[in-house]
Amino acid sequence: MHELLIATHNPGKLREFAAIFAGLGLTLRTLDDLGITEDVEETGATFEENARLKAEGYAALSGLPTLADDSGLEVAALGGAPGVYSARYGGVKGAAQLQYLLDQMQDVPWHQRVARFVCVIALARPGHPTQFAQGTLSGVIELAPRGEGGFGYDPLFYLLDEDKTLAEVPAAHKNQISHRAEAARAARAILEQW
Ligand code: IMP
Repeated sequence: MHELLIATHNPGKLREFAAIFAGLGLTLRTLDDLGITEDVEETGATFEENARLKAEGYAALSGLPTLADDSGLEVAALGGAPGVYSARYGGVKGAAQLQYLLDQMQDVPWHQRVARFVCVIALARPGHPTQFAQGTLSGVIELAPRGEGGFGYDPLFYLLDEDKTLAEVPAAHKNQISHRAEAARAARAILEQW
């Protein structure tokens, strides 16, 4: 049985990865399972750099093959912001962060509000070059938040195909169409080669 460290403290993320990696014969471990309390700093300028820093950092700490992901929102009219700064955009959290994004886009008309979520997964194992998998989800930044589900920017992320925000679609459906799910399916293909 091969072990893979999923470098997260988030049980929701672990469940998503476990579902997509089912049948590979992997035993998934988390940082909490291994008692790893050190934080690897996300000091990179890109999703790829941050995912690499975390995957290689936690692989070194644990001695296990390690998966780490980094994700965020890119808004075309804001030159790709908030990008890797999505979690701390505007220096605020929660509903205030949604309002901050809306304020930045006050004068941006509907047809120029295109955006995407990006997720990059890095897979690190001792003695091998780190490999990457990516996923994206395209949408439009709404004029006001809608929906109770999901987290982060979901209430402002309108999906043309669904005519709903990401906070209005059922969690199980989000977990099939999301940037993280697409990246995880690409990561599964790499793990199959391992
Ligand atoms: P992380 O790298 O997965 O921790 O994500 C960084 C930040 O990107 C989060 O704090 C959110 O602000 C944003 N983000 C990433 N994925 C999503 C998503 O699926 N929905 C809404 N916001 C997201």
